Amino acid sequence: MHKVGIITASDQGYKGERVDESGTWMQKILEEKGYRVEKYIILPDEQDLLENEMIHMSDELKVNLILTTGGTGFSKRDVTPEATKKVIEREANGIAEAIRYYSLQITPRAMLSRGVSGIRGETLIINLPGSPKAVKEILAYILESVHHGLEILLGETSECAVKK
Ligand code: MTE
Repeated sequence: MHKVGIITASDQGYKGERVDESGTWMQKILEEKGYRVEKYIILPDEQDLLENEMIHMSDELKVNLILTTGGTGFSKRDVTPEATKKVIEREANGIAEAIRYYSLQITPRAMLSRGVSGIRGETLIINLPGSPKAVKEILAYILESVHHGLEILLGETSECAVKK
């Protein structure tokens, strides 16, 4: 069973001024897909806090997947991609490209998400936008391939059977 860490980046969510629907949806969807949610945390849009949490989840909790939601847009407080770029060792651009490619077919506003994806050790880190709608749409699209990517990353399979 793959372990996952969920980080919601939201000043309002952190202060309790907004209910974090995106993080709770993420948790529900991932559990339904058979992941073990090791930790779920709401943080303010502060780059150092986001970096430290990603490092903690990856190096100490040894989660296989970190999903973030929020902080990918153009607001001056949006720094999730910057935090992620600091902690990853290898880029996995294809996932961020796929997210934008798919999301653009739903809304042109998808071009405004600056989300990135990459690998730190044995942890895959993926940024998703902040809205619950975006989270549900994107997870439905990426999870199957992400699962396969994790199997390869963790050496559980060397096979790359193409599935439609
Ligand atoms: N992607 C999908 N699939 N669905 C959406 O509704 N919303 C977009 C975009 N990506 C959206 C999406 C909007 S409106 C914005 S501003 C950006 O994500 C950035 O969101 P964030 O700042 O909450 O991370």
